[in-house]
Amino acid sequence: MNKFVAILLLLSISTSGILGVLNFLTDSWIKIIISNLDSAPKPVAYHTAVFNAVNNTMLIYGGVNSTNGALNTLSKYDLVSDSWFSFNSFNVSNNDITAIPSARYGHVAVTTLFNTMYIFGGRNETTVFNDIYKFNMENDMWVKIEPKGDVPKARWGHSGVTFTNNNQFLFFGGSTNIEGTVLVNDVLKYDFEHDSWISNTPTGASIPSSRYLHSAVFTLTNEMLVYGGIVQDKVVSDQIYIYSAENDRWLNMTVNATSPEPDARSSHQAIMTPLGTMIVFGGHDSKGNPTDTTWKYTISTNSWKFISPDNLGPVPRAGHTCISTQFNTMMVFGGYSGNYASNGQVSGGSFFNDIHKYNVVNSVLRSSSDGVVLVVILSLVGTMVIALCFALDLMNEKNEIQRLEMMEREALAKNNAIELEKIKSDKEKAAKPQLFEKF
Ligand SMILES: *[C@@H]1O[C@H](CO)[C@@H](O)[C@H](O)[C@H]1NC(C)=O
Ligand SMILES: *[C@@H]1O[C@H](CO)[C@@H](O)[C@H](O)[C@H]1NC(C)=O
Ligand SMILES: *[C@@H]1O[C@H](CO)[C@@H](O)[C@H](O)[C@H]1NC(C)=O
Ligand SMILES: *[C@@H]1O[C@H](CO)[C@@H](O)[C@H](O)[C@H]1NC(C)=O
Ligand SMILES: *[C@@H]1O[C@H](CO)[C@@H](O)[C@H](O)[C@H]1NC(C)=O
Ligand SMILES: *[C@@H]1O[C@H](CO)[C@@H](O)[C@H](O)[C@H]1NC(C)=O
Repeated sequence: MNKFVAILLLLSISTSGILGVLNFLTDSWIKIIISNLDSAPKPVAYHTAVFNAVNNTMLIYGGVNSTNGALNTLSKYDLVSDSWFSFNSFNVSNNDITAIPSARYGHVAVTTLFNTMYIFGGRNETTVFNDIYKFNMENDMWVKIEPKGDVPKARWGHSGVTFTNNNQFLFFGGSTNIEGTVLVNDVLKYDFEHDSWISNTPTGASIPSSRYLHSAVFTLTNEMLVYGGIVQDKVVSDQIYIYSAENDRWLNMTVNATSPEPDARSSHQAIMTPLGTMIVFGGHDSKGNPTDTTWKYTISTNSWKFISPDNLGPVPRAGHTCISTQFNTMMVFGGYSGNYASNGQVSGGSFFNDIHKYNVVNSVLRSSSDGVVLVVILSLVGTMVIALCFALDLMNEKNEIQRLEMMEREALAKNNAIELEKIKSDKEKAAKPQLFEKF
């Protein structure tokens, strides 16, 4: 690591230590104080949450309440002022109300860089859906779309990620019936530039079995990481699968055997951090009981780490949402404390509408009452460090590739096959550096 970066990093850590905003030694969660809790959505589970980076807000859509009623409410949370926003969530372009999704839960919400949110699939009490909807987060309006291509099977409990380079969403798995007994393992591609479905059958070394209520995140190197979920016969999975979006292939991978592994998990949530780690929070364990544990999976070492939080964290839950924000924090919202019900019903336990923050860099939750300004300053320093590392990494990578290309031309001229093979493998390594593995 460059010295300058190290100093900046130290600075950001010591500053936060002195000022007491982040207590990076205790690995603790702190519940945030929300100024207008009465505007918060009602307690809900199996809803979706997305982060709107432009407006620094979190959008919550749909879900199921404690009496098994599906909802179609949309709520907005301001991440800077830590307050709920009221707005007309049923505003629709051209007054075409068919552009608004019907009440649902177990659906997927994904966003594009162009400030739109899409809602795909989900279910209500009786029906599983295969329809897709678009919401413009800039002017808060539903926009009617008529997708082209083969309409996929209806599903709920599936996952979705955004493959920005290709203007695509990738949806994986899900249950096609409400009981959760007919599961799928296809990767659906949706081109959000042309609003069309693309049919697709990925191959690969280890293709995950059909499942639902798993999680999926997308990495900086365009891979989708699928974790856990419920597979056939209600068995809960503890496996990680990696899908290369660029090559449309499932990769063969096994978790580093020296690392501890979390118990099997479903209805949990996972986020990807800028440090190349996946954070997994909550969910039902292998016996169907809700948990409050936090695990970190490092892609570069392919290993798990248990982050032991104290009692101040969210109570055990499943069917909640986690989003990753610009401030290096993870926001947890809602969920319920009931057990996994094998009949597909969501009942029992308490339903929640609380919000928790977790600092993904220092493994600490941060309170909103600590002051927005400090949070902004600290995150600016954090962002600078990350941006600098990115720049340095990219520069190194470019130089290394240029050097290898020169050597390649020389080896070609000399017709040296052994040397060429070595350069080729070095080039592959150089083109895919493990960002931030130094941390
Ligand atoms: C979101 O941000 C954009 C760009 O800054 C702004 O034009 C728009 O009014 C904002 N929308 C809301 C609902 O705040
Ligand atoms: C749950 O949602 C349904 C449908 O929207 C509604 O009729 C019911 O009153 C709600 N139950 C509670 C406890 O809010
Ligand atoms: C819906 O959005 C449009 C465009 O932003 C705006 O002009 C209109 O006032 C909004 N309608 C309502 C009922 O909020
Ligand atoms: C579930 O959705 C279907 C299709 O939109 C609808 O016909 C049905 O009335 C809904 N069920 C409930 C309980 O709202
Ligand atoms: C996957 O990797 C394991 C361990 O390296 C290996 O034993 C197995 O043969 C591989 N499977 C495939 C299909 O490549
Ligand atoms: C396995 O995990 C350990 C501890 O996290 C790490 O030191 C080691 O490098 C990892 N091994 C591989 C092959 O990634």
